[in-house]
Amino acid sequence: MENRAQWGTRAGFIMAAVGSAVGLGNIWRFPGVAYENGGGAFFLPYLFALLTAGIPLLILEFTMGHKYRGSAPLTYARLSKGGEWIGWWQTAISFVIATYYSVIIAWAMMFSYFSFGQQWGTDTQAFLFEDYLQTTAAGEFGSLVPSVFIPLIFVWVIALGVLSAGVKKGIEIANRIMIPLLLVMFLIITVRALFLEGAIDGLNAFFQPNWAMIGEPSVWVAAYGQIFFSLSIAFAIMIAYSSYLPKKSDITNNAFITGFANSSVELLAGIGVFAALGFMASQSGVAIDEVVASGVGLAFVVFPQIINEFPAFNGIFGFLFFASLTLAGLSSLISIVEAFVSGIMDKFEVKRKTAVLFGGGLAALLSLVFATQGGLNFLDVADYFINQFGIALVGLFEVVFIAWFAKQLTPLKNHADAVSDIKLGAWWKICLSIITPLMLGYMMYGLLKENLLGDYGGGAYSREFIFNYGWSVAIGAILVGVLLAQAKSWKKTSLEVPKSASADKEVSS
Ligand code: ALA
Repeated sequence: MENRAQWGTRAGFIMAAVGSAVGLGNIWRFPGVAYENGGGAFFLPYLFALLTAGIPLLILEFTMGHKYRGSAPLTYARLSKGGEWIGWWQTAISFVIATYYSVIIAWAMMFSYFSFGQQWGTDTQAFLFEDYLQTTAAGEFGSLVPSVFIPLIFVWVIALGVLSAGVKKGIEIANRIMIPLLLVMFLIITVRALFLEGAIDGLNAFFQPNWAMIGEPSVWVAAYGQIFFSLSIAFAIMIAYSSYLPKKSDITNNAFITGFANSSVELLAGIGVFAALGFMASQSGVAIDEVVASGVGLAFVVFPQIINEFPAFNGIFGFLFFASLTLAGLSSLISIVEAFVSGIMDKFEVKRKTAVLFGGGLAALLSLVFATQGGLNFLDVADYFINQFGIALVGLFEVVFIAWFAKQLTPLKNHADAVSDIKLGAWWKICLSIITPLMLGYMMYGLLKENLLGDYGGGAYSREFIFNYGWSVAIGAILVGVLLAQAKSWKKTSLEVPKSASADKEVSS
C-alpha cells in the first residue's frame, strides 16, 4: 500500500509546476540575458535549447518521478544502483539556490513597500547599493541589514508554512492562489507598459536580431543556462513534484503545457520590460542600450527609475511589479525547498514537518549570509558558480547517466507513452542521448576554459574570494551529494517501487 502524498487535481499539479518554473528567472533574468545575447536573434538558440533540452528533460524528469515515486535521491536510487549521488547533488544545488533566492524575494517584498511614495528617491542606484543594501567590499560580511532581514523572515515563514501544510493542502493551494494572481498583475503592467510613449522603440531594440552573435558559443551557453534555470530542471524539483502525481497522469502533455507556459511568461516579461525601457529612454532622451541592465540592476535600479517617470498611479504600478516578482519568487522558492525536504523525508524517514524544520530551517539560517552588508557580492558569485558548475554540469551528468550508463531511456519512454496522449518519437531519445550531451559537453569545456584562464567578474573579485564562495560552493554540492548517498543505507523495502505506481500496463489511454 502506497501512502505517498498526492496532488488533488491535474490543474493543481500544472499550477505548481508552472509556479516553480515561472520565477525570478523569468522576470529578473530573461529580458537582460536575451538583450545581451543578440536580442531577436537570441530566440533561435533559446528555442533550440527549449525544444532539444528543456522540454525533453522536463518529460524525462516528470516520467522519472512518476515511475519511481520518489524525491530525486530516492528516484535515482530506485532507477539504478550508483545513481543516488546524482540525486543528492541536485538536491544540494537546490539547497544553495534556496539560500540566496529567498533574499532576492525579500528585496522584492521590501521594494513593493518602497513603491508607495517612491521611497527610493531619484538616485535609485545609490539607494539600492548604499541606502538599502549598504554594500561593503567583497569578502567582508559587515552586519545584518535589518531591512533585508525583516522581510526575509516573512519569506521563510510563508515558504516553510506552506511546505509544512503538505502537498495538497499547502503547495497546491498556495500555487492555485499565487499563479493566477501573478498572471493578472503582470498582464496589467505589461499592457500598461505597451501604451507608454517610446514603448515601440523598446520593443524594436528587444526584437532586433543581431545575427552576428549567433556564432558565439557564449550566446548558446546563455540560452541553455536560461532554459535550465527557468524550467527548474536538473535541480531535483520536477522529479519531486511529479512523484506526487496520481497513476493516471498525462505526463508528456503536462510537460509541454509547463514548458510553453513558462516560455510565454518569459516572452511577456521581455515585452513588458522592454516597452518600459523604451519609455524610459524616450523620457531621458537617450538610446535604449544606455538604460538597459540585467539582473539586480534591471529590477532594483532601472525599474524604480521607470516607476518614477510613470505618468500616473506610480505607486500602484511599482507595487504591481514588485509584488509580481515576490509572488513569482515565492512559488519557485517553495518548490526549491521541497526538492530537499522531500529528499530528507524519503531517506531519513522523518515526517514532513521535521524535514521542513531541519532542512528548511538550516537553509533559512544560512540565507542570513546574503542578508549582511556583504551579501550582494556573495550572492553574485554563488549564483554564477552554482548555475554554471552546478545546474548545467549536473544536467550533463543526468542525461549521460540515464542514457548511456543506466540505459533507461527506452523503459522511461515506454512508461511515458503508456500514460500519455502524445507518444514520444525517436526525437526524444536523440535529443537526450546525443544532442543535449554534446551541447552541454561543449558548453562545459568552454566554461571551464574561460573560468580557469580568467576570473569571474573581470577583476571585481579576488581569486581567494572566487575560490571560497564560488568554486567551493559548486564543488561542495558534489561532495555533499556523494556523502549523503553514503550516509545511511535504504531499507530494502524503500528501494522497491510501489506496486500501484507501475502504470505501464494498467493505464492505456
Ligand atoms: N525556475 C525558477 C526561476 O525561473 C527557479 O526563477
